Amino acid sequence: MKVIRTIPEMREARQAMSGPAGFVPTMGYLHEGHLSLVQGSKRDNSSTVVSIFVNPTQFGPKDDFNRYPRDERRDISMLEKAGVDVVFLPTAVDMYPSGFNTWVDVLGITERLEGLARPGHFRGVATICNKLFNIVLPDRVYFGQKDAQQLAVIKKMAADLNLKLDVVAVPTLREADGLAMSSRNSYLNPKERTAAAVLYRSLCLAGKMIQEGEHSADSIRAAVTGLIEAEPLAKIEYVSVADTVSLKELEEIRSQALISLAVRIGKTRLIDNIALS
Ligand code: PAF
Repeated sequence: MKVIRTIPEMREARQAMSGPAGFVPTMGYLHEGHLSLVQGSKRDNSSTVVSIFVNPTQFGPKDDFNRYPRDERRDISMLEKAGVDVVFLPTAVDMYPSGFNTWVDVLGITERLEGLARPGHFRGVATICNKLFNIVLPDRVYFGQKDAQQLAVIKKMAADLNLKLDVVAVPTLREADGLAMSSRNSYLNPKERTAAAVLYRSLCLAGKMIQEGEHSADSIRAAVTGLIEAEPLAKIEYVSVADTVSLKELEEIRSQALISLAVRIGKTRLIDNIALS
């Protein structure tokens, strides 16, 4: 596996690849969820590139940029074992040189949910992904369904900007109690970790209600809210029952819905979702 830290070297490595290249952008502190993106890329492509870059522009002033977990050595060894061809670790100065002043803003779908709770977040995500795509020139890019809105933003950006690549969605990987895998789970102490399972339990309740014929989005929101509020360590930021494409809140569930949550467990902000059809 090549470990590359500069943009010219990354471009050179890409040119030397024959056949389709898959790309998995990450912020590191890898877990099984990232490795399932890698597996997807290895299945579909002859080469796989993974980037590790904790992107400062997608964190707000009150977000956890400084304490975001980092372990480069461990990440590189996991990627080597997973059979990745190239790991790209650009520097912040190379990605955002002094005078950098061009941004990618996907409007509409970023004005809700995470976009509302974290102003500027998706501008940072779309900008860094666009830059990485322009450097790596992948044929396919892999994103987890856990960050459903991020996935929707990347798909919209790829369509609107005519990017010559396919965006591949990979199902969320979960711990035994249903907690979605996330680098931020490492912030949870043992009591919080147990409490965090309430997110998936509440999503399952929503799924069950819909399966049993509930059509009212308000009834689903109320049931999910009630279950989470019964957990003393949990504090809800939002409970959303929205259209899977526009992410607009629904009144009535007909053929599909994205149920998504942002919940603080102690100081840790967790998100999760399920898409129902
Ligand atoms: O999902 C993430 O880890 C990040 O938002 C991404 C896509 C790597 C962009 O920094």
